[in-house]
Amino acid sequence: MAVTGLLFIGFLLVHMYGNLMILLGPEAFDEYAEHIRTVGEPMIPEKGVLWVLRIGLLASLVLHVWSAVTLWGRAGKARTTRYVMKRPGYGNFYAKAMRWGGLAILLFVIFHLLHLTTHTITFGEPEPTPAGRVLESFSQWWGVLIYVVAMVAVGMHLLHGIWGACMTLGLNTSLKRAEQIRFVSILVSTIIVVGFLIPPFAILLGLVK
Ligand code: HEM
Repeated sequence: MAVTGLLFIGFLLVHMYGNLMILLGPEAFDEYAEHIRTVGEPMIPEKGVLWVLRIGLLASLVLHVWSAVTLWGRAGKARTTRYVMKRPGYGNFYAKAMRWGGLAILLFVIFHLLHLTTHTITFGEPEPTPAGRVLESFSQWWGVLIYVVAMVAVGMHLLHGIWGACMTLGLNTSLKRAEQIRFVSILVSTIIVVGFLIPPFAILLGLVK
């Protein structure tokens, strides 16, 4: 769960950085979208690298969900009475939110793929280019709202997920280290959420046309 989660964080950071290209204008964004499809050509066929990444992401998703279901079952059998001593962390609320938040993110990703990858869902007139679709989607407040809600779910999941991954990997060796892990969880989650939300708000506010 920790390793696939960290792979997802890597993907999110790269995806977020790529989305910021829209701030340089529609041409820069379309060029970037084209580059993802043609990277490695002619040695690698068109979309070759993209498909390797897609298969890697899908395999990670299957392993991540499988780990979640296994852990859920194990936690249910583990301990029926509460611990007396509280350790620094985010508490039970976030832990519970992980399961339902994870499910919500899964539903969002399906929606997101239908929206911006297959273009089955459109937020207005069908647009022929990646930049056109992004600009069309986020020029309406409700389009931005859908993504804001999704990014809040992603942020909460990351906040506890990064913390949990550090625990699993044995990085929590002292109280000071626990505080550092907490700081890094907040920092990385904030960078990802804010970074993803900059393009939608920049478009809504008319800063990118
Ligand atoms: C405001 C937030 C986001 C925006 C504006 C956005 C935008 C986009 C766009 C434009 C594409 C299509 C790229 C192309 O094919 O040209 C895309 C693909 C994708 N996005 Fe996002 N994205 C956002 C957040 C997320 C999040 C949070 C996740 C994961 C939890 C995610 C996962 C994906 C995946 C898996 C693809 C498909 C990549 C592929 O196989 O082609 N996105 N996104």
